[in-house]
Amino acid sequence: MTRRYDRAVARIAPSILSADFACLAESVDAVAPEADLLHVDVMDGHFVPNLTIGPPVIKSLRSRTDLYFDCHLMVDNPGDFLDDFAAAGANGCSVHVELSDVVPLFGEMRRLGLDVGLAVNPETPVEACLPHLPHIDLLLMMTVHPGFGGQAFIGEVMDKVKVAREEIDRRDLKVALQVDGGINEETAPIAAAAGADVFVAGSAIFHADDPLKAAKRIRKAVA
Ligand code: DX5
Ligand code: ZN
Repeated sequence: MTRRYDRAVARIAPSILSADFACLAESVDAVAPEADLLHVDVMDGHFVPNLTIGPPVIKSLRSRTDLYFDCHLMVDNPGDFLDDFAAAGANGCSVHVELSDVVPLFGEMRRLGLDVGLAVNPETPVEACLPHLPHIDLLLMMTVHPGFGGQAFIGEVMDKVKVAREEIDRRDLKVALQVDGGINEETAPIAAAAGADVFVAGSAIFHADDPLKAAKRIRKAVA
């Protein structure tokens, strides 16, 4: 049984994109005490100009940790792989609203027992995701252009985060509001003030001298 996340409090999601893949399990173990979710960036070289990992790595990690695996699918054809992600031990998957039709993917994720996430690129209007809010568990607002770690936080996205937070609260929905990209001790409080409650951080955690302390500092910054 993997850990489920507590929706009531701010959550920290270290992104393994910035970890050393040669010692991934050790890197994950090192941050596990401060990780509410483990963010797994899956890239296909088409939807974004970069390649990363997929279900085989998730399966290997699953045998080493009970952390919640929050899989961010930056791929053109997530529907072809959802069952593989579920079988590998993913807990939730986020698909991008920029794909032509995400609604059938939600049904497929539910059928597979995956939490349903919807990701939104910085330039995509917030209106694109609002109709989907009642059908998802997590809204992932990209605060950088997807594809690479270590980019600078795009502050303008906070206008969209505020609108999404208002809609989630107005409709009394239980949707987690995640920010992803350029999150560190300085930017996390800005996103928290706008209404985010899940904070993905890759380079700020895994490129720090002490990743566990870095995650702890981000948690403290949004407390
Ligand atoms: C970028 C990924 C992010 C990435 C964030 O496409 O979606 O999850 O790991 O990295 P940092 O925290 O370094 O911006
Ligand atoms: Zn991500």
